Amino acid sequence: MRIDIITLLPRLLDSPFSHSILKRAQDKGLVEVVVHDLREFSTSKQRQLDDYAYGGGAGMVMMIEPIDLCISKLKAERDYDEVIYMTPDGELLNQGMANELSLKGNLILLCGHYKGVDERVREHFITREISIGDYVLSGGELAAAVVADSIIRLLPGVLSDETSALTDSFQDDLVAPPVYTRPAEYKGMEVPEVLLSGHQAKIEEWRYEQSVARTRARRPGMLDE
Ligand code: ADE
Repeated sequence: MRIDIITLLPRLLDSPFSHSILKRAQDKGLVEVVVHDLREFSTSKQRQLDDYAYGGGAGMVMMIEPIDLCISKLKAERDYDEVIYMTPDGELLNQGMANELSLKGNLILLCGHYKGVDERVREHFITREISIGDYVLSGGELAAAVVADSIIRLLPGVLSDETSALTDSFQDDLVAPPVYTRPAEYKGMEVPEVLLSGHQAKIEEWRYEQSVARTRARRPGMLDE
């Protein structure tokens, strides 16, 4: 899989992909993440990327041409399954969507800024719009990193058996059970007895019960679905 991220602020995306699991996934060749600086696709002398909104009003709008040039160049080089625009009014990201996107080939993620992109970009180039939550970030970069992370960790070979995504919260429509590690007792706070029993069937049963109870308490809507 290849993920191309188009942004006005490429440096903002240096860090998330340079550490730990996301870095290892790239080093192993399981995913390629390429960040594109939109400024390189500006054709104006001043390297302009945004302009005033037609009809007036506060806030700048990202211009169509640099975005068109960047997306068209990428599409001429390879096929893409989705061209995704990061926007607070998009479809809400959830585990099901991450699972679905992890099965795709190549993806483009376009990060918005200011008042967003010229509507014609959304109409003609974008195949899907994603929000990471009902709040507004200062740009789509952090949202794109969240989407990419949620996808990459699901790619075969990225996580080891011990960290398998199969036991994540949401993966069975339940949140994950509580976890503990050594010491078994810390300042009078004890690890539940059953986890020390060595009785695997009982441990699994306890974990399942905890997951159901936690889901009921924290995410009752998941049980209704
Ligand atoms: N850009 C700004 N806010 C966002 C959000 N909540 N999700 C996706 N992209 C965004």
